[in-house]
Amino acid sequence: MAEYIITGGRRLLGEVATPGSKNAALPILAAAVIGRRSIIHNCPDISDIRCAIDILRHLGCKVFYDGNTVVIDARSIITHDLPRHQMEKMRSSIIFAGGLLARFRKFSAYQPGGCHLGARPIDLHLQGFKKLGATIDIDDEKIVAKANELAGGKIHLANPSVGATQNIMIAAALADGVTIIENAAKEPEIVDLQGFMIAMGAKVSGAGSSTITIEGVHELRDAEYTIMPDRIVAGTYLAAAAITGGAIRLKNTGAHYNMRPIVEKFIDLGTFVTLEDNAICLSAPHRLHGLGYITTSPHPGFPTDMQPQLMAMLAIAHGNTTIEETLFESRDKHVPELAKMGAKIASPDSRFFHIQGAPSLHGTTVEAMDLRGGAALVLAGLAAHGQTIVKNACYVERGYAAIQNDLQALGANITYIS
Ligand code: UD1
Repeated sequence: MAEYIITGGRRLLGEVATPGSKNAALPILAAAVIGRRSIIHNCPDISDIRCAIDILRHLGCKVFYDGNTVVIDARSIITHDLPRHQMEKMRSSIIFAGGLLARFRKFSAYQPGGCHLGARPIDLHLQGFKKLGATIDIDDEKIVAKANELAGGKIHLANPSVGATQNIMIAAALADGVTIIENAAKEPEIVDLQGFMIAMGAKVSGAGSSTITIEGVHELRDAEYTIMPDRIVAGTYLAAAAITGGAIRLKNTGAHYNMRPIVEKFIDLGTFVTLEDNAICLSAPHRLHGLGYITTSPHPGFPTDMQPQLMAMLAIAHGNTTIEETLFESRDKHVPELAKMGAKIASPDSRFFHIQGAPSLHGTTVEAMDLRGGAALVLAGLAAHGQTIVKNACYVERGYAAIQNDLQALGANITYIS
């Protein structure tokens, strides 16, 4: 099992670039299934992307990937059966289902795996497919969908699920007629998916608002597209500077609007933030402030994918904070690990966390148990006195391409042992 060994206490200083977004790239790779030849730039070099490429190859696509650009020829696709092994590894493997339904009018799939954040049902995805005309059979392990015809219609999501919105957008692209998704997710990654789909010749509008309209077309064309910057990696790097009292310039941060919910919290924490064209500068000359109360919520609220990293910062802030996690029922695996490092966090249930800022943390051995929780432990290690070993680096590698390299470039004492 790979691990990070961190000796904390160094202020991070300097400049790094934000990589392409995992959560934009994964649905875009899935959408490539309905296209012809797609060239996708700025794909991050992370294990979840390699898993998505394995799925594309399993389906029969020809795929070339150099760690940045992915070229997918989906004309050679031969099967509508999704592979169990990859589906069990990654939640967003289910997004391939919408493309297969659009292309073959059928798919078979398994319950997707991924980070354990509590129950993560896919009922909204399947209800959306049913509204488009699919029949769905589930025996406890396998999901089989068939549609004689796919016809557009109005789909109201009971909650604005990111994945369900993406799956329905892709499935509806080749349906007959117009599909309207109401209460759609508004995340920037949905806007990026729309951008790619438009490049392929799909007729989609409204992404970024709660109503998305897809007018079905008969066929799509070759496309070339560049993935947006990863706002969660950007937030994590800003946190690395904030938690160490450092000062960094983060390049390639993209549209300020996308980063606003995260940047606002850094300002509330007492850091100094300057927005430049496509860059963010952050310095943290003073101890961070507690925030009182904060809740995660869908975009444009504070993202759940930054909750663990925020908690690491609050663990050494001056004052108290309650975090309410509203998206996932048990996104809390990092809490006992942070406590091993001296964080004072009371958690009456798995959705509320009362954090009493401590003067400092101390290094010890901790275990990453999911992607963002693992990133939070790395951050805590950067600030802690002494040595921290973060085990199970594989979780962090799902979403961060060699995080140790970027942190070393900023002056951190971190090594990766495979
Ligand atoms: C995506 C992101 C993930 C992020 C999450 C919320 C990707 C690859 N992943 O995950 O990093 O944490 O958005 O911003 O983009 N739900 C249902 N039924 C469904 C689908 C979802 O009840 O059919 C619930 C979930 O259990 C959860 C909430 O809706 O409580 C939000 O989930 P969703 O927006 O679907 O998250 P993902 O697309 O899985």
